[in-house]
Amino acid sequence: MHIGPLKLKGNLLLAPMADVTDLGFRLLCKKYGAALVYSEMVDADGVIFRSNKTISRIVSAEEERPKGIQLSGSSAKSLEQAARLVEEQYSPDLIDINFGCPVRHIVKKGCGSALMKSPQLMADIMRQVSGAVSAPVTAKIRVYDTIDRTLETVQMLEDAGASALTVHARTRHQNYAHRADWDVIRMVKEDLCIPVIANGDIDCETAAQTVLEKTRCDGLMIGRAALGNPYIFRRIGYFLETGKLLEPLGVSEQVEDFFEYVETSDKYGLLDYASVKLHAKWFTRGIEGGRLLRIKINAEKDINSILEVMLSICRE
Ligand SMILES: Cc1cc2nc3c(=O)[nH]c(=O)nc-3n(C[C@H](O)[C@H](O)[C@H](O)COP(=O)(O)O)c2cc1C
Repeated sequence: MHIGPLKLKGNLLLAPMADVTDLGFRLLCKKYGAALVYSEMVDADGVIFRSNKTISRIVSAEEERPKGIQLSGSSAKSLEQAARLVEEQYSPDLIDINFGCPVRHIVKKGCGSALMKSPQLMADIMRQVSGAVSAPVTAKIRVYDTIDRTLETVQMLEDAGASALTVHARTRHQNYAHRADWDVIRMVKEDLCIPVIANGDIDCETAAQTVLEKTRCDGLMIGRAALGNPYIFRRIGYFLETGKLLEPLGVSEQVEDFFEYVETSDKYGLLDYASVKLHAKWFTRGIEGGRLLRIKINAEKDINSILEVMLSICRE
């Protein structure tokens, strides 16, 4: 799959997820075949004013290339400035603009899905940012209540210079209780010339195949199903290539992946209690007695005690 001049070695992408897709986790997903990984969403003003939190979210490593950085912002001016800075300092292979985040504190600032109220502003942002940097600029959007509005907006983004579009097939008011509407992605794909990446509820081999067949999209973006389960990229990739299912990872391999996450985070100076706790809980999903393990992990007050709980899984 190509995104502008960027050639990817596959069509499975890891979704940007705030507080989740840190460097250690992105590298695990890459190991299992994710063709492109993104930073967590970073705020344009945070980039401009060099907030420590923002900088820690951009920290990257050469071994994770190709990498995307996702920006959120409310104006073309701040997003353009942030994109220039990000390109100068971190040289990402791609810059993505978030037009879909429905989280209240993001929308309140006029960012994320708040921008969907003004497709013209979305197009202005796309035009200005893609004109300012040499990396391809893409957008991640949610859909509108009506297909006409969705098609009108995606067309404007393509005309404004978007190199690809990721469509999370839910409206900004729908939470995860609603199934993603993959038919909308098909209509977007039929309408556009740029690559379209499908997103929403791609959580297993058959879902991946169904979405590809149904939408004819160019890429698949996987979010929640990768939590604690980066191996999903290998499973889905293998199935799409051979039509055969791989066995799930054994418990000890799952725990090994968690410790690899911890080691990588440590190596890059990113080890922190909150992230270790969050990932430890996800890596116990699907393990027998997982609920009890998560209760124990929740109660632990430092990283070493959480690691002890994770080690105990393999001793049992
Ligand atoms: C914890 C969490 C954090 C997320 N953060 C972001 C984000 O920073 N940027 C973004 O574009 N989408 C974000 N999303 C949305 C996902 O990228 C994705 O669009 C959504 O989860 C649907 O895909 P899925 O069904 O494969 O999970 C987030 C989702 C979750 C669950």
